[in-house]
Amino acid sequence: MIHQPQSKMMGTQKNQNIMPQYTDYAEYYDQDHGGDSDIAFYLDYAKKCGSPILELACGTGRVLLPLANAGFEVHGIDLSENMLNVCRLKMKQQNLFDKIHLYRANMSNFEMERKDFTLVYIAVRSFMHIFNQKDQLACLAQVYRHLRPGGYFIVNVYAPNLRKLLQEPDAAFVVTSEYELDNGNHIIRSDRFVRNDPLLQIQYSERKFEEYDRTGRLVRQRVVPLDTRYTFRYELQLLLEKVGFHVIDIFRDYAKHPFDSTGEIIMVAVKK
Ligand SMILES: C[S@@+](CC[C@H](N)C(=O)[O-])C[C@H]1O[C@@H](n2cnc3c(N)ncnc32)[C@H](O)[C@@H]1O
Repeated sequence: MIHQPQSKMMGTQKNQNIMPQYTDYAEYYDQDHGGDSDIAFYLDYAKKCGSPILELACGTGRVLLPLANAGFEVHGIDLSENMLNVCRLKMKQQNLFDKIHLYRANMSNFEMERKDFTLVYIAVRSFMHIFNQKDQLACLAQVYRHLRPGGYFIVNVYAPNLRKLLQEPDAAFVVTSEYELDNGNHIIRSDRFVRNDPLLQIQYSERKFEEYDRTGRLVRQRVVPLDTRYTFRYELQLLLEKVGFHVIDIFRDYAKHPFDSTGEIIMVAVKK
C-alpha cells in the first residue's frame, strides 16, 4: 500500500496554460454534490470486473470509499490536493489505507506503473473539466493503455442542453441548495450561468457559497468558477473509438435507461 501524505505530482504540467482551470471547493464538496445514485451502478461494474480499479478525478473518494468497503482494491487520481486530503481523512476514519491508493495527477497526463486495471471510470461529469480535444484524447489514450484487454471504461458527461446554452449571458445567481456543515454552519449555495462559448464548447458558470455561523452571521463567502466543456454523444463515441475502445452501452441515467438525448450521457466501453 502506498500512503502519500502529500501527494507527489505525477507527469509533467504541460497543460497549465490552458484556460479555464478547475477550482475545487473541497471543504463543501461532500455535503454539496448532487447525490449518490451512481454508487450502486459503479459497484455493479466493480463486481463484474474485479480488482484493481482506477478512478480518474476521484475527488473526496465519494465513489472510491464504497468500492473499497466492498472489498475492491481501488486507485484514485485527482489534481486537487484539497480534495485528496478530504479523501484521506475519511480513509483514516474508515481504516481503509490498505485498500485505497491515491495519486495527485492530471487525468490527461498520468502514468502509473501497473497497466492491468480491470475497470477505469470517470464519475460525475469530471471528464468535462478537460477543456480541449487534444487533452481529452490524451486522457482516453492513457486510460486505454492502463486497462488490461477486455477491461471496462465508463465515462459520464451531461447531454448538452441547447436551450440552456442559448440563454442570455451574465445571468444572476439563483439559490440551488442549502445545507449544514458538520460544525453547524449553514451554507447557501447559488449558481449562475456566465456565458457559452460555442466555438470551444465551453459553458462558463459560477458557484457561490455563503457560510453563516449558528448566530446567522455571514462568516465566509466564496465564488468559484465551474466551467465545463460539453461533448456531444457521437463526438464522445468517436473519441473513444479513435483510441481503440468498443462502445457497448450508452445510458441516460444510473438506472441504465438507454440514452435518449436528455439527461446524462453514460458511456460504457471495452478495450478490445
Ligand atoms: C465534480 S468533482 C468529482 C469528484 C468525484 N469523482 C465524485 O464522483 O464525487 C470533480 C473532480 O475533478 C478533479 N479534476 C478536475 N480536473 C482534473 C484533471 N485535469 N485531472 C484530475 N482531476 C481533475 C477535481 O479536482 C475534482 O476533484
